[in-house]
Amino acid sequence: MVRFLGQDEAINIDQELFNHYRFSVDQLMELAGLSCAVAITKCYPISDLKNNNILVFCGPGNNGGDGLVCARHLKLFGYCPSIYYPKRTEKPLYQNLTTQCQAMEIPFLEDTPSAEMLSRNYSLLVDALFGFSYRPPMRPEFVSVVDAIQKSGVLLCSVDIPSGWDVEHGAPESGGLEPDLLISLTAPKRCAEKFRGRFHYLGGRFVPPGLEKKYGLNLPTYPGTEVCVKL
Ligand SMILES: *[C@@H]1O[C@H](CO)[C@@H](O)[C@H](O)[C@H]1NC(C)=O
Ligand SMILES: *[C@@H]1O[C@H](CO)[C@@H](O)[C@H](O)[C@H]1NC(C)=O
Repeated sequence: MVRFLGQDEAINIDQELFNHYRFSVDQLMELAGLSCAVAITKCYPISDLKNNNILVFCGPGNNGGDGLVCARHLKLFGYCPSIYYPKRTEKPLYQNLTTQCQAMEIPFLEDTPSAEMLSRNYSLLVDALFGFSYRPPMRPEFVSVVDAIQKSGVLLCSVDIPSGWDVEHGAPESGGLEPDLLISLTAPKRCAEKFRGRFHYLGGRFVPPGLEKKYGLNLPTYPGTEVCVKL
């Protein structure tokens, strides 16, 4: 049985991938984002959706970077993604990822979308706001964003952690997001045990066997050359 990680463990594994194994952030982000886009194609084939409009919500950190990569691949897979990326960073990596999306004619929304706007325009929302390093409370400017996602009732896919959930304990008492698809990256975090949606996938097929062994991750076998696996 695959192991569900605590927050500190997830942070340590991440650090080890960079410091010991010498991966760069953009390498792993590319694989993580690609695996998210592929998991979405498996759960929501375009022919099953009322339209192929997807809105990707990108947060200020690495989870948001995964979202930018995911959006780019969704476009290549024939979807019509848009991006809402309200809190951008100056780091060149993120600027490059943003430029790539803009150059691929993926629209960036300027204003915080309302629940009504979301339900009218999109058949899927991708929550790439906060990842495994998130600690509550949520920054006030994101509270209304999460609220709109929740009220819209549109199908939701969360990248790694449903935003606003405690990484170990799950949804906040006030309710929180309820994704239909959760894509755990590298290894699932403890909060994923509380996930009640239809689809749980694991992506980020880059874990070196030595690292998997050291942390006793017990990852499932990815079929063939797949970049994600259903849990
Ligand atoms: C961003 O793009 C520029 C131009 O291609 C490149 O020189 C630079 O290394 C990139 N930076 C990162 C962090 O990817
Ligand atoms: C979204 O829906 C609104 C109506 O609620 C419409 O005015 C707007 O043009 C739509 N936006 C996009 C990006 O499709």
